[in-house]
Amino acid sequence: MQDKLNEIKAKALELISAGDTPEKLNDIKVSVLGKKGELTAIMKSLKDVAPQDRPKVGQMINDARAEIEKNLEEAMAKLQAEVRNAKLKAEVIDVTLPSKKPVIGHRHPNSIALEEVERIFIGLGYEVCEGPEIEKDYYNFEALNIPADHPAKDEQDTFYINADMLLRTQTSSTQIHAMENEKPPIRILAPGRVFRADEVDATHSPSFHQIEGLVVDKNITFADLKGTLAEFAKELFGEETKVKFRPHHFPFTEPSAEMDVSCFKCGGKGCRFCKGSGWIEILGCGMVHPRVLEKCNIDPKEYTGFAFGVGLERIALLKYEIDDMRLLYENDVRFLNQF
Ligand code: DAH
Repeated sequence: MQDKLNEIKAKALELISAGDTPEKLNDIKVSVLGKKGELTAIMKSLKDVAPQDRPKVGQMINDARAEIEKNLEEAMAKLQAEVRNAKLKAEVIDVTLPSKKPVIGHRHPNSIALEEVERIFIGLGYEVCEGPEIEKDYYNFEALNIPADHPAKDEQDTFYINADMLLRTQTSSTQIHAMENEKPPIRILAPGRVFRADEVDATHSPSFHQIEGLVVDKNITFADLKGTLAEFAKELFGEETKVKFRPHHFPFTEPSAEMDVSCFKCGGKGCRFCKGSGWIEILGCGMVHPRVLEKCNIDPKEYTGFAFGVGLERIALLKYEIDDMRLLYENDVRFLNQF
């Protein structure tokens, strides 16, 4: 019996040391220690052993069982540790690797330019407001002193919705809303989308953006207009920027002007950018026409004002040196990523 026991033990220990998976170890456990296992069978045959030898033999069986169990446990613990180490090794994190950057969008050049313009005028005490994109003829034309037979009203330029309603062709309409809604002093900046029946090309689009400015108060003069817009140009294009006002005509201002800035590329010497002239046209402006003030029930004898209108795309194209307006509307991320 002792030989048998030693044989079982030796075989079991050998199998255990060769067992390289938890499943194999478990099979050994069942076949040796399980209910129908070899060692269990021997335990059962203890009754055939002479009574005086039983304690000794029983002890031997128990010792063998304990040794096999101990070996099994150690082998199992070792295997599990190996499995765990292999897993840890496979999942190791190199904290020195650069992280994956989440793809976040970029601000549109129009938005960057608008924020810049707003920042400048907010700094000068202006309030930013918005007007409707769908307007009555009155706000877009009539109240702005644009007579019924004016060429700008031609259906070729204006998107009419019906005889009286249209998509605004200029943010100047916001001037009228502002003067109807508030009493002077008024100091507003009104950005927004405008619409014109234009063919798409490098400098035209049926929908683009303007930024309108309006100041109405007592004793506002052309000097205020010049000072304000010169300051704006310096903030936007650099401290050395000079401005030049050329007489122009707008129905809603008198006198009217267009403002040029000295080319910020060549400093005014003349380059490809300013087409050799040294100057770049930037905006339209003028003193609010008395008739426009009257339409809004503001007494032109008591109050005067100035207004200006800037093309937002024009600013964005100039500032970021983009040579085709269409790029601003295609929303190609490879283009937008650059800003
Ligand atoms: N509304 C004009 C345009 O669309 C721009 C403009 C010129 C606005 C002179 C003004 C202004 O407020 O005073 O071309």
